[in-house]
Amino acid sequence: MKLPDGPKLHPVFQLINWIARPFEYLEECAAKYGDTFTIRFFGFQPWIMVSNPEAIKQIFSLHPDNISVGRSNKFIAILFGNNSLLVLDGDRHKQERKMLMPPFHGEKVKSYADSICQITEKVASQWQMNQSFIAREAMQEITLEVIIQTVFGLSEGKRYEEIKPLLADWLDLTATPARSSLMFFKFLQVDLGPWSPWGNFIRTKQKINDLLQAEIEEKRSNPAQQGNDILSLMLSATDENGQPMSDQQLKDELMTLLIAGHETTATALAWAFYWLAKLPEVKEKLLQEIDSLGENPDAIALSRLPYLTAVCQETLRIYPVVPIAQPRTLTTPVEIMGQRFEVGTLLTPCIYLTHHREDLYPNSKEFRPERFLERQYTNYEFIPFGGGVRLCLGYALAMLEMKLAIATVLSKYELALVDKNLPKPQRRGLTLSPNNGIPLVMTGLRETKKSVVLN
Ligand code: HEM
Repeated sequence: MKLPDGPKLHPVFQLINWIARPFEYLEECAAKYGDTFTIRFFGFQPWIMVSNPEAIKQIFSLHPDNISVGRSNKFIAILFGNNSLLVLDGDRHKQERKMLMPPFHGEKVKSYADSICQITEKVASQWQMNQSFIAREAMQEITLEVIIQTVFGLSEGKRYEEIKPLLADWLDLTATPARSSLMFFKFLQVDLGPWSPWGNFIRTKQKINDLLQAEIEEKRSNPAQQGNDILSLMLSATDENGQPMSDQQLKDELMTLLIAGHETTATALAWAFYWLAKLPEVKEKLLQEIDSLGENPDAIALSRLPYLTAVCQETLRIYPVVPIAQPRTLTTPVEIMGQRFEVGTLLTPCIYLTHHREDLYPNSKEFRPERFLERQYTNYEFIPFGGGVRLCLGYALAMLEMKLAIATVLSKYELALVDKNLPKPQRRGLTLSPNNGIPLVMTGLRETKKSVVLN
């Protein structure tokens, strides 16, 4: 079958572009080949990049039996393991997703609101007047603590103190484009001892796994400790044959939720603080909206504010933390917008290019939250969390965290950019993050001190 046209560059160089300058490369390809093109990365099947909302709608609507995400995602298994929700397909994906869903949706997510505000306040209270700090690191402290509390129901203890720096260290091993190559080039994945990049990577992961194993054993042997946290839920779940999850399955899912559940949100928050410090008119408008709730606003009322929501949406639109949804491998031939694609084709909804379509987002490089108030975008036009049966499991938690962390900080602290230039989004493993992490400095405390009411 003839695949859509695409760049002729050697696949090694296409992959280097994807690692080193992904947004620029996507833009160059779209300018030349339009909204559907084939990209070829060394060591991977060709990916068909799609940024037409109607085509994305059809891809997101494909029946789960007609696609496999795990097949094209083997390299993700290196990070999270073969039992991660990110690589499961079919019935197992459906069952585990259903089991993991409740803690991330509806009323349950809202119940985390108070902790999110408290954790944000705790981290922000360490900032010193006129001293700079890296927004991304501060936000990662907040989001990691939130996910550890929700996944494990843990907020203190030796294991908790040990796992936090290990997770951060492990993620730092792929924190730059050069280090991210480790994930994409298989020939770099050789263990040459603890000082080699891959050796360090697998040893750090092993240490995290050992701590997760200890946590699992402790919870399992002590039913009184089991609560509403995700690990307890997984420990009590059984499959259709009445079998509980194996330790390996449990560890892979915990790792997935711990990593996917905090890295992305931390980066999105760092970008939000960049835009708020860069654009005083946006910050002022947002502060007016927050202040309109009066002294000590309720956390849930805050999370419903329209301009605050629009600021978060615009942040996720302009530089989506995850540039593409997961590539879907076809397991049956399908037709998308009249074009037939055969079994084995990889269809990839491109989040970044969709978010920069001029017909949807005029002056797409301009940060303008108002666009989300003027127009209702569909789930195929605004897609920071992907869609369909693989829609991000944690999107409601991520949005709540973003809104509450922004409102908590903005209500109390005056922050300024250390470097006013636009940071470059650069690869950080599977995500894209501002290259300088956004250095900020605290320049003052707001006069009308407000704190969010904890109910
Ligand atoms: C701003 C923050 C976040 C962004 C931008 C983001 C983005 C994404 C995207 C694009 C996908 C792929 C969806 C697709 O292929 O259609 C995804 C999947 C996923 N995300 Fe998130 N995510 C965020 C936060 C979170 C959080 C807080 C969690 C916590 C649980 C989480 C857990 C997951 C999981 C488990 C999947 C795999 C879902 C599946 O395959 O069924 N994410 N996310």
